[in-house]
Amino acid sequence: MSTARTADLWWKNAVFYCLDAETFRDSDGDGAGDLVGLTERIDYLAGLGITCLWLMPFYPSPNRDDGYDITDYYGVDDRLGTLGDFVALVRTAKDRGLRVIIDLVINHTSDQHPWFRTARRSANSRFRDYYVWQDEPQDEPDAEVVFPDAEDSIWSWDEQAQQWYLHHFYGHQPDLNIASPAVREEMAKIAGFWLELGVDGFRVDAVPYLLETGGIDGELQLDPHSYLKDLRSFIARRRGDAVLLGEVNLPTDELVAYFGDEQADEIQMLFAFPLMQQLYLSLARQDARPLAAAVRELPEVSEQSQWAIFVRNHDELTLDKLSDDEREEVFAAFGPDESMQLFGRGLRRRLPPMLDGDQQRLRLVYSLMFSLPGSPVLFYGEEIGMGENLDIEGRLSVRTPMQWTDGKNAGFSDARPSRLRRPVTEGQFGPLAVNVSDQERDPDSLLNWMQRLIRRRRETPEFGWGAWQLLDTGDDAVLGHQCDWEGRRVLALHNLSSSPRELRVAVPDTGASEVVDLLGSDGKALELENGRLELKLEGYGYRWLRVRPSTA
Ligand code: GLC
Repeated sequence: MSTARTADLWWKNAVFYCLDAETFRDSDGDGAGDLVGLTERIDYLAGLGITCLWLMPFYPSPNRDDGYDITDYYGVDDRLGTLGDFVALVRTAKDRGLRVIIDLVINHTSDQHPWFRTARRSANSRFRDYYVWQDEPQDEPDAEVVFPDAEDSIWSWDEQAQQWYLHHFYGHQPDLNIASPAVREEMAKIAGFWLELGVDGFRVDAVPYLLETGGIDGELQLDPHSYLKDLRSFIARRRGDAVLLGEVNLPTDELVAYFGDEQADEIQMLFAFPLMQQLYLSLARQDARPLAAAVRELPEVSEQSQWAIFVRNHDELTLDKLSDDEREEVFAAFGPDESMQLFGRGLRRRLPPMLDGDQQRLRLVYSLMFSLPGSPVLFYGEEIGMGENLDIEGRLSVRTPMQWTDGKNAGFSDARPSRLRRPVTEGQFGPLAVNVSDQERDPDSLLNWMQRLIRRRRETPEFGWGAWQLLDTGDDAVLGHQCDWEGRRVLALHNLSSSPRELRVAVPDTGASEVVDLLGSDGKALELENGRLELKLEGYGYRWLRVRPSTA
């Protein structure tokens, strides 16, 4: 594999880090984080070793859905800074070797967007067709509302327009009509604008909804995937190595279609939602089999496609694809209290409190996340083990200010605490116990461990590029897999149970006689005898091993 190719297809072996500038670092003491504050912390992120930032929406917005309700696609919200600050941020990130992708929210706008305000005023406006209208709502819409706590239908009546409009999300987020050529044109212009300002791609929000028109797709003559093909080829024309990372929460067999024909002409990266959900079931059961089944089901990807592996994102930790009984098992293990659950399908907690702060188990999960086939995506604060604040409503419980120090406002802002847009987390996972400053000084901290893990992951491209295969570990609690690439092989073993395990692992088709430990501190080699590896894993133990080719 040429190095040029691995550099061009950079997302195959990237480490993503998602954050919202609003909760990262406040530079001017107004209580909200901003782009200047983030720019000042780029060296922290570069030092951590991540390779690509994913910025959550920073566009002008009434902020009724944390910025996913946009009123201007070409700007930066006043709270967060200016376009000039944005360019300075991207410039600084590039200087430190980081790429930047941003959220592209094309399923809907805010109802305060000038397009919608004009559209609802007049049926003759050219913006009317930017949205999806009906004289009567569908009796049985083909889709359910995404936020059942707030909405009971995907159609809302608009007094001014005297028609119903489609919205899969909140009523204040009318769906755009992607079947309209003018809307497609606008979206290309928007993507093109940000590419010119230096971004390396987009996290595409709510993709499957984009293609649903609430039961009237026949009339709109929408070919579901044609839009994604258009968008991809437009972006490829503008910038060959820009990436699209799609939010598509569908069962694996349907999910793959979003890579496009031959997995080559739509979205390059898809979040591995099914894998993530089975991972939590496996953790709850201390049994690797559900996860193993999900890995087995994961189709191989083409050279340019990639899975995005995550254990937490900014939304509820959705468990919607598990059966009711399975979901209850995960709820019972990790979020038994109703206040920890959301929409009947997910959890609004972060991982460390779910695992009762068990450091060994936490590291097991991140070791898995960084070795499963794909590219890992961290959510800010995961590297230090931040917890949630359940006093904050809904999904925002996991979007508290970044914890930099044990001082005022966790070092996030100099504002009076009452002026903070969102309160910091308190208690066991609050800044007194969990913060960057303390962890930077402690060689055994999660932060320093994570930094070593990231470095090792970047040095082990087999996980991102290789063909994967499950290993027979002879133990249901232990997941074993190997990744082969360019004549090199790495193995990963993960013990999901709390008890130690003695293993005899079968390593197929190898004449090698040794494996080398990639994460342990002594770097000792282990013998591989006749394709058998004998080793002991402690409770929640994990190993990454590189097969050393025989020199004989
Ligand atoms: C996506 C985002 C979520 C947002 C929704 C509507 O699912 O991840 O945070 O609320 O889209 O834009």
